Amino acid sequence: MLQKHNPKNDDIYVHVAGKLVHRDNAKVSVFDSSVQGGDAVWEGLRVYKQGLFCLDRHLDRLFTSAKALMFENIPDRSSIKKAIAETLAKNNMVEGCHIRLTLTRGEKITSGMDPRLNQKGCCLIVLAEWKAPVYDNDGGIKVITSSIRRNAPQFLDSKIHHNNLLNNILAKIQANVAGKDAALMLDEQGFVSELNGTNLFMFKNNILYTPHAHACLPGITRGLVMEIAEELKIPLREKNLSLTEFYTADEVFATGTMGELTPVVEIDGRKIENRSSQRNFEKIHSTFLKIIPGFCEKL
Ligand SMILES: Cc1ncc(COP(=O)(O)O)c(C=O)c1O
Repeated sequence: MLQKHNPKNDDIYVHVAGKLVHRDNAKVSVFDSSVQGGDAVWEGLRVYKQGLFCLDRHLDRLFTSAKALMFENIPDRSSIKKAIAETLAKNNMVEGCHIRLTLTRGEKITSGMDPRLNQKGCCLIVLAEWKAPVYDNDGGIKVITSSIRRNAPQFLDSKIHHNNLLNNILAKIQANVAGKDAALMLDEQGFVSELNGTNLFMFKNNILYTPHAHACLPGITRGLVMEIAEELKIPLREKNLSLTEFYTADEVFATGTMGELTPVVEIDGRKIENRSSQRNFEKIHSTFLKIIPGFCEKL
């Protein structure tokens, strides 16, 4: 599914390094670390009419990522919330929006890899756009397995939500070439890790399974689905899962801020056939939709 141009976003204002500017002028320096080395961290957030969904959980992850990368002069929680509030107010955005929140290591005094060249502190970007969830959550998505493996901690820890996204972008290109919606990525041992931009779950015999989070982003939506499963008394197991287990699962679905909860209907040409009489995905999905307001924060 290719996202379409939305003319409502043509005149949005973006918060860049403390200033609100029209999108045409929303730029970072060529000396910025994000340009030089993808040296930045980010979060995707959704805005519902009740407020920003799981805002503090996203900010916790942003701070964790920035700490792991040893960023300096990181803006505090209240100043980030203020920048988000100002951006939404300027654009009259109250719901149906997505925010791409980026924190770069900032500008360097000269080009180079060394973080000691960063002497101006971090650069915060709040990009809010009118955007509905990107996947077809009724019809579902079809995926293929990529030959690109998802980073495990010995290469680059997937728990850092960084902007060095080439690992996932290469996988997505393979899905595009194959005419599918997303790429399924394996870990370094050949077990299923996640899709290129969302986490994966499967049901087999009414038990919910998801891969260990050693080589995938521990998604905030993934965490909520696990909490919902506990609440609904659905047995849940985190385990190493092979492609065969996914091919023969009763139900498979993906989770993430960009698409919420999305059924996966085909993997590598194998249709996901529900042999159980249960519609477990629907139970989890309807509970997820119900609890959204309780997890929203109005700024
Ligand atoms: C690689 C990857 N996996 C999973 C997710 C889903 O995470 P979340 O539920 O926190 O949006 C994302 C979101 O950015 C991602 O980039």
